[in-house]
Amino acid sequence: MTIQEAIKARHSVRAYTKRPIDGEVLETLEQEIRSINERSGLRITLCRNEPKAMTCLLAHYGAFENAENYFALIGPDEDDLFERCGYWGERLVLLSETLGLNTCWVAGSYKKSTVKAMLRDGERLAAIITVGYGAKPGKPHRSKTYEQVTETSGPVPDWFRAGVEAALSAPTAINQQKFRVILRDGEPSLRALRGPYAKIDVGIVQYHFEIGSGRTIPIE
Ligand SMILES: Cc1cc2nc3c(=O)[nH]c(=O)nc-3n(C[C@H](O)[C@H](O)[C@H](O)COP(=O)(O)O)c2cc1C
Repeated sequence: MTIQEAIKARHSVRAYTKRPIDGEVLETLEQEIRSINERSGLRITLCRNEPKAMTCLLAHYGAFENAENYFALIGPDEDDLFERCGYWGERLVLLSETLGLNTCWVAGSYKKSTVKAMLRDGERLAAIITVGYGAKPGKPHRSKTYEQVTETSGPVPDWFRAGVEAALSAPTAINQQKFRVILRDGEPSLRALRGPYAKIDVGIVQYHFEIGSGRTIPIE
């Protein structure tokens, strides 16, 4: 499965089997995390066989089951931390999908104190992403339309449309899709609207747009 195919195939999965993440799959994930941390300045950590973060009441009501593995998205407490965690975290989400794993972003319904215990001085926790072998496949989310998320002027190239299509498949907090993809004088940019965790969302959308369009896109 390619990353492009992973964008179409991915849906949030909250219930997992007990199958451990090990062998080559684990090695691939750990290698990618090392590479991401070197490039991004983040300190993303894969926590395995750690049931405490996802066994609080909120996680229970959220229908999480056997969610004992997760990426903890940790980095320096800087202004753009949430956007950066969105971008690099989604890279791990889509890689996981190509490896036969399933994921779910979790920014609200987990026991933050458990994960915060890992923080070092000057660091902040943005969210976690549960990862594992899904007990059943996820379902497609309802989506806004191309028109609802774009602001364009002048001719619209195919690469822009392809980028927006990939952006509309991105996971967002409570499926809010509070972002705009803008095309001005032929240059694309992204804007986060107001909403819970919309800064993480816009980083996630940035990665999807780049994969779909083959172009980089700055966040305004
Ligand atoms: C930043 C962010 C935070 C999220 N937080 C939670 C959460 O706390 N609990 C939860 O059950 N799902 C959470 N989700 C998952 C979303 O509800 C889900 O991505 C959205 O409904 C779209 O569905 P899909 O991922 O299957 O496309 C979060 C997603 C994102 C991107």
